[in-house]
Amino acid sequence: MKDGRMLSARFGRVDGHRLAVYEREGGYTALRKALGSMSPAEVREEVEKAGLRGRGGAGFPAGVKWGFVPKQAEQVYFFVNADESEPGTFKDRYLLDYDPHQTIEGSIISSYAVNAALCFIYIRGEFGWLIDRVNRAVDEAYAAGYLGRDILGSGYGLEMIVHKGAGAYICGEETGLINSVEGRKGQPNIKPPFPAVSGFLGQPTIVNNVETLASVPFIINDGFEAYRRFGTEKSPGTKLWSVSGPVKKPGVYEVPLGIPFREFFHDHLGGMVEGEKLKAVIVGGSSVPVLTADEIMDVDLDYESLAEAGTMLGSGGMIVIPESLGMVELIEVLMHFYWDESCGQCTPCREGTGWLHKIVKRMRRGEGVGGDIERLETICDGMAGLTICPLSDAAVMPMRSFVEKFRPEFEALIEKKAALVAASRWARGEPEKQTWPS
Ligand SMILES: Cc1cc2nc3c(=O)[nH]c(=O)nc-3n(C[C@H](O)[C@H](O)[C@H](O)COP(=O)(O)O)c2cc1C
Repeated sequence: MKDGRMLSARFGRVDGHRLAVYEREGGYTALRKALGSMSPAEVREEVEKAGLRGRGGAGFPAGVKWGFVPKQAEQVYFFVNADESEPGTFKDRYLLDYDPHQTIEGSIISSYAVNAALCFIYIRGEFGWLIDRVNRAVDEAYAAGYLGRDILGSGYGLEMIVHKGAGAYICGEETGLINSVEGRKGQPNIKPPFPAVSGFLGQPTIVNNVETLASVPFIINDGFEAYRRFGTEKSPGTKLWSVSGPVKKPGVYEVPLGIPFREFFHDHLGGMVEGEKLKAVIVGGSSVPVLTADEIMDVDLDYESLAEAGTMLGSGGMIVIPESLGMVELIEVLMHFYWDESCGQCTPCREGTGWLHKIVKRMRRGEGVGGDIERLETICDGMAGLTICPLSDAAVMPMRSFVEKFRPEFEALIEKKAALVAASRWARGEPEKQTWPS
């Protein structure tokens, strides 16, 4: 722990990824404590009391999820979700790049809590360098006796496999992820059953995000009360925010949950770069509703306050949008992403994401037609909550909020098209009057 940073203390350190450095700074003492003096149930209780919420997007309490594994289960699997494909999100790669042992230690302790004997670290395929780095760290952990049979003489054994994803956003969804490791298409399953009951090979399986697991060693070493000293009552702990956009200091920040946006924006990010003005922010990765500059300035960055403001904390991928960027231009890029990444299983998502993209693309090109805005809204109505997984909703949430909050920008593009048509008719001597947008 350094300057209130329990997760990012070794960020930026050239040698922070090495086992010797991690051990020198207290690494693997939490594992020794858990295996030496705590039962799996006690580990789970400690994490539950800490109120650690999943950092992969949904914010579900980790300890509670672990409690869903049936008591009599003989084969339990553990998956570390390092797929990190949400646009704007780049925190897990920092954790694994600068400090892989922290996540590995947290994953071993968490696997112990649910009695798992096999743990996969599922890493996004494009992260080639990271896969090598994590593989080397896993080898170091095996060599030091932190993995394998009879870890530290405790009688508990765990094997760990680093699995390379093929680079599909949908494989970050937990059941898509499990299917892809089983060798199937990376497509989600209908839930229930939830993986904690029936997951990998039909056995109980826990999937947790990298950041969630990296928080576990601190909780076990220092106790749930120490963890709760950070953050708020309902959103305890610290959070990594990956910030992109034209702020003076973009990057990955660890701050306590509940910090006011205003303070974060001015004191940490340094405000906007010269010549730019804040227009809007998407706080939780691209899949959540956008907030205007006015809406976000007085909001605290925790799960409850953001929900109250009409958005979600999500993955903490904060996209800062300047006045100089057109919202139709931006949403076109996002809709292209969701259309490209839809797995195609569900018709509303497969077709809907494509339609949304097609319409915003023609609007952006000045080729929109009357009724396009209403068409976007109707398509969203036919997509939300009607599919196997929330990828469809992930496209609908930003789309709806962009139209709702920045409607004049969409309208202006349609008016521009209408004006161009009118102008060309006028040039041909056809219309009576010419209409230009104001
Ligand atoms: C389309 C889609 C993509 C997702 N991508 C990720 C991802 O890259 N990383 C991640 O941790 N969770 C991702 N999730 C959430 C996972 O399904 C799951 O909730 C999470 O890994 C659970 O971990 P947590 O409880 O620690 O947050 C995604 C969900 C959806 C619907």
